[in-house]
Amino acid sequence: MARGRARVAVSILDADHSNMAYAIRRAEKEGADRFHIDVMDGHFVPNLTFGPKMIKGIRPRTRLPLDAHLMISDPLQSVDEFLAAGCDSVTIHVEVDPAQIEPTLGRIRAAGRAPGLSVKPKTPLSALDPYRGLFDIVLVMTVEPGFGGQSFMKDVAAEKILAAREYLTHAPAEGEVHVDGGVNRESAEFVGGLAVDVLVVGSVLWRKGRNMGREIRLVRALADEGYQYRLNNGKPPIPRDAMVVFDQLPKHLALRFMDEIEAGGISVIPLRGNGQFNPDGVRDYDLLVPASVESLTIERHAADRERYAGEAAAWREDYIARHGIQPPETLRPAPS
Ligand code: DX5
Ligand code: ZN
Repeated sequence: MARGRARVAVSILDADHSNMAYAIRRAEKEGADRFHIDVMDGHFVPNLTFGPKMIKGIRPRTRLPLDAHLMISDPLQSVDEFLAAGCDSVTIHVEVDPAQIEPTLGRIRAAGRAPGLSVKPKTPLSALDPYRGLFDIVLVMTVEPGFGGQSFMKDVAAEKILAAREYLTHAPAEGEVHVDGGVNRESAEFVGGLAVDVLVVGSVLWRKGRNMGREIRLVRALADEGYQYRLNNGKPPIPRDAMVVFDQLPKHLALRFMDEIEAGGISVIPLRGNGQFNPDGVRDYDLLVPASVESLTIERHAADRERYAGEAAAWREDYIARHGIQPPETLRPAPS
């Protein structure tokens, strides 16, 4: 299948650990590009997950690449086992004992796999300086490592993702920047705009009742859309793949309406739009639906659209009243 540039690595951290074979089969069928396996030792991070044996068990169950993310204090001691288990890439943390970093990356490279270095949110990218040329993956953590389901740290992404590319100049083709932590449909467009190569997505995919395949496709499409925006100097690329704007609302209402529409099986893409400014200084979000189901969406949700327009008006008024802002300043329509 022809695809854009962004890839989704499915993190199995929040899958059912008692049925990993099923989780792997399911995620592959639903369109995962690769797997991201979080190894934790209860020491480098306050959580304990799986080791090389689990990876060895997973290896014959999928043809997709396996990325090991080692959140362990002593990677040198066990890296050979992870390589023998069949990992395609092994990423270690730059915060471990410095004496271990160069030899560990060297062993990964010698085994013909991709070596990676990861930075925790508070670690500056400059921590990677001494190891230039020794790694082909920069894994930017946008949550504190240890657990799935935490919120995305946008400032960290903005500061590091694009800048991380500078560390891969020795491998312009194979070098990859990965983003890990809190990545979902809300953050995908943003990190795509920073030209990230691999989006690690975990907890949202395993949530009960989620359509995993749709979620993966949406994250990938949004990341590509973000990238296109960037190439186009921030303007929407034309055409937007036959998606049409169904509604424009303040972000929190847009996301709620999106869920309601999606519950009926219609895919929605929420995008930072060109609509009106709200009193909080943020423009309305566009809710896009495929052109092929535009009339169906209108038919189904005409009344909801009016209800949301009412809610939006009330929210704007309330915001203005609470913050004492002048409405004409902030509610002027955007120049078209
Ligand atoms: C956190 C892990 C992540 C985690 C991401 O320490 O490194 O890979 O699985 O999960 P979400 O997507 O829920 O943040
Ligand atoms: Zn991870």
